[in-house]
Amino acid sequence: MPRVIDVPTDDRQMGVEECASAIAAIGFDPACPGMVDEVAGLLRALGANRTFLGDGLVELLAESGKGETPQSAYSPQSIMLTSPRNGFFLRANIWPSEQDSCFRRSGAHNFAYGAAHDHNFDFLTYGYFGPGYRSDYYEYDYHTVTGYRGEPVGLRFIERSALSPGRLMHYRAHRDVHAQLPPDSLSVSLNVMACEPAQGWHDQYGFDLTRGTVSRVLNSGSTETLLRIAVALGDEEGVGLAEDWGRNHASDRIRLACFEARALAAHDPSNRDTIWREAERSGSLLVKKEAELRRRESA
Ligand SMILES: [Fe+2]
Repeated sequence: MPRVIDVPTDDRQMGVEECASAIAAIGFDPACPGMVDEVAGLLRALGANRTFLGDGLVELLAESGKGETPQSAYSPQSIMLTSPRNGFFLRANIWPSEQDSCFRRSGAHNFAYGAAHDHNFDFLTYGYFGPGYRSDYYEYDYHTVTGYRGEPVGLRFIERSALSPGRLMHYRAHRDVHAQLPPDSLSVSLNVMACEPAQGWHDQYGFDLTRGTVSRVLNSGSTETLLRIAVALGDEEGVGLAEDWGRNHASDRIRLACFEARALAAHDPSNRDTIWREAERSGSLLVKKEAELRRRESA
């Protein structure tokens, strides 16, 4: 499960910019435990500041009232506190309880509750406000997983615990898996999020806890979407690119997306079947397993 970090108590309080500048000066290399602990101390100093988030939200609401685009939009429950810099950014995350109206209106799935997943990035999290979301924690070995739907991954249950106030944890990329449960009342966590350019090429998975398998890849990117559009529009170069990348691209996920784009654009079921048969012989285990699934699903 994520590493719980015990930061020695001190009186430091920081604002967002002060905290971000201090982290940028140290750097945030998640592979270096000493550096992670130092950054955790700075995150706690931000967490000791009990007014910055409320003040920031008031400012944000005042800006949106003037018709200006909020600069911190990230997702309905996330607030980007800083832009990415030096391999990290700061974020606040809001976790509604079952009693909150947004939960009742939107449902648990819109807040990722109950959906077991790993992360393709490291991050630190701090329980800032409220009792904190709860999680069932698991671990698995990313390097033994190909990533096709239905693949057994040997999830190991570790424990259920809450991100209680003041708790600091380091979620490790491609290792820690959690399925979150709503907190007893509205809660907020603060994060130092690692970000690096190659991140998007590493898969983030959703898991089926009943079967102990991969349920889907969560981080398909814009390249996959653009491929689908180019091929669906029937552009000759787009189709040629999909055929070429399907055979040769360095990323198995892009190779699969190429076959998907071609199969989606094929109106005739027998043409679709021919494309997936070709995919089965692609030499990629991920593409082969997914192709077998698609042929079974359409049989
Ligand atoms: Fe998560």
